[in-house]
Amino acid sequence: MEDIAWGTDAELTDAQFYNRKQEILVLKSLIESSSKGSPPTIMVSGIRGIGKTVLLKKIKKELKDDYFTCYIDLSLSSSYQMGELTEIGIIEHLYDCIMEEYKGLKFFSSLKRLSKYFKTKDFSISDILDAGGIPMPIPKTSDNYRKLSSFVLDLPQVIYEEHQDKIKGTVIFIDEFQVLKDLGVRLDTFLWYLRGVIQSQKNVMYVFSGSLTSSDSIISKIAGSEGAFGGRMLNVEVHPFTKNTVKEYLKEKSPSLIFDDTGFERFFNCTKGIPFYVNTFAKLLRRDIQLDEDKVKEEFQRTLPYLAIHLINQWSRLTLQEQKIITELLNGPLRRKNISSNIGVTSGSLSNPLNKLQDTGLIKSEDYHYIISEPILEAWLKREYKEKKVYPFRSI
Ligand SMILES: Nc1ncnc2c1ncn2[C@@H]1O[C@H](COP(=O)(O)OP(=O)(O)OP(=O)(O)O)[C@@H](O)[C@H]1O
Ligand SMILES: [Mg+2]
Repeated sequence: MEDIAWGTDAELTDAQFYNRKQEILVLKSLIESSSKGSPPTIMVSGIRGIGKTVLLKKIKKELKDDYFTCYIDLSLSSSYQMGELTEIGIIEHLYDCIMEEYKGLKFFSSLKRLSKYFKTKDFSISDILDAGGIPMPIPKTSDNYRKLSSFVLDLPQVIYEEHQDKIKGTVIFIDEFQVLKDLGVRLDTFLWYLRGVIQSQKNVMYVFSGSLTSSDSIISKIAGSEGAFGGRMLNVEVHPFTKNTVKEYLKEKSPSLIFDDTGFERFFNCTKGIPFYVNTFAKLLRRDIQLDEDKVKEEFQRTLPYLAIHLINQWSRLTLQEQKIITELLNGPLRRKNISSNIGVTSGSLSNPLNKLQDTGLIKSEDYHYIISEPILEAWLKREYKEKKVYPFRSI
């Protein structure tokens, strides 16, 4: 039976979810050992499309009978969506997600003790929503930020204490952590504040995640020796599927694909074992023919616009100068001074665009040279150029 998820699915069925046994084991045992006090904070890192979100959701599902669990996607906070991420916006978003999850709790009985907590924290229950018979207190968010944030960030511990006869602890998953970069110069303060709160909670485990790599500036701010969580944060990196895993995966989940050996080699080469690409490409490939190397190449060109969809989105939000830097790098690695002379600007004016492009993960620097770090973007741009004789600077 065909059982492959779309690349955009955030929650997979057990039949669709493949492998990751090691990661699940590590994460679950870290979380479960934390009931013995002073839990470490975890960072689940890895490149785009590698499967961080589906992994977090899988673990959440497996823990939810024994723990109060909450999944929070920072990129869905409305202040981020509206283009101006603020501390208060983040805190409000956390509050919404925690309360939403709390409402759906199986053992949810009454808010009696919780509402006492609301009162001691000086929050009048300004509004009571009747959401399916469950009263939902809403804090007055116009109060000052410190008061609101200490109130919200204490909630996971309070919920544990309220229900400790039924649960072993609270697990908070915070996804798309890289969004916090938008706080700019205020990032450090926020991280240190967060750490202070987290450190004092004995029964709450935090699992952060985001498309971050070790070269990312935010990682050293968080986990580096001088960083806010320095020494106390465990990094679990999610890797691409190996060639063998992809082979077994396709055999099991998509038996109607007929590869010969060279065809499979090419398939792996195109997708690099990154689950988003593996799934998208496998779903779009023709099923009625034998797939040899040439056929897979042809199919790759045909399906590139679908494989590159996130990247095309990202590309279209770049400035013209950033786009030009990328097209310069299509011919190979370049030093900064070569990029600047090729596009006719001063080397100094490239600082910001180069930093931004590195932060978005589209390029990276190695041995004083810049290179494109997204092969699918590279392939798509080359295809566009071949077809249209011009790069898609404006036309999307
Ligand atoms: N273990 C898996 N088994 C099967 N398919 C997977 C697995 N992990 C990921 N995928 C596929 O890859 C897609 C992308 O995964 P996911 O959204 O979790 O990536 P991500 O690392 O969170 O990416 P981003 O950084 O863009 O948020 C999923 O929708 C699914 O189709
Ligand atoms: Mg994700």
